[in-house]
Amino acid sequence: MAGRGKVIVIAQQKGGSGKTTLAVNLAVTYARLGLRVALLDTDPQGSLGRWFLARRERLGEAGIEFSTSSAWGVSYECEKLRRLADVILVDTPPKVDADLRPALREADIVLVPIAASHVDLWATEGVLDLARREQRQVAVVMNRVRAGTRLSDEVTASAGRLDPGMAAAKLANRVAYGESLGQGLGVAEVQGRGPAAAEIAALAAEIAGRIDLQMPAS
Ligand SMILES: Nc1ncnc2c1ncn2[C@@H]1O[C@H](COP(=O)(O)OP(=O)(O)OP(=O)(O)O)[C@@H](O)[C@H]1O
Ligand SMILES: [Mg+2]
Repeated sequence: MAGRGKVIVIAQQKGGSGKTTLAVNLAVTYARLGLRVALLDTDPQGSLGRWFLARRERLGEAGIEFSTSSAWGVSYECEKLRRLADVILVDTPPKVDADLRPALREADIVLVPIAASHVDLWATEGVLDLARREQRQVAVVMNRVRAGTRLSDEVTASAGRLDPGMAAAKLANRVAYGESLGQGLGVAEVQGRGPAAAEIAALAAEIAGRIDLQMPAS
């Protein structure tokens, strides 16, 4: 349907796996490509809101819409936001239970970040099961990868067995992610030509392709 925004839901039971980092950086990247972007935070921790406030203070205009909702308010919010934005990124709390269902039902794709550790891996099956039960397209996203370490290689291989559709683009462990988050920015805004911006751009393009997100003609 024309003018209907796509919804990307980011979910993972394990805390600190990179959900908010992914939401922020994909949002900034899509906005820089000229798309209308909305962020929706369903996590009562409110980290995304803190990022957004820092961004407003820094830039004046955030260039991205932001709203919050309860777990069960997601469908109503998404219905509204789909009319206003090309892409809506939904950040969720670190738990996987019935409360996640309304968000999953809205999702054109569910991104599941796994920070390269076995603990993150063990926490992943629950969200994959739930998303598949809702017949949602899923992509595991490897995060905090340390190239060439046995741990990263092992976790990546196991994650690939859990999700054969794992995103080809992976995010390395880089200080720029933490720093930019605290500044209300995305990595592309602090080091536009750096490796972090390049891997986020690759991920953004890959996900856009999977959900048929049209880029504005440049
Ligand atoms: N690729 C990365 N490289 C370095 N640091 C990272 C990376 N990804 C995330 N981090 C850092 O890890 C911490 C947790 O990330 P983030 O807040 O995005 O996780 P989360 O899944 O949203 O956590 P929560 O479950 O608590 O909401 C943050 O300090 C963030 O800056
Ligand atoms: Mg978070």
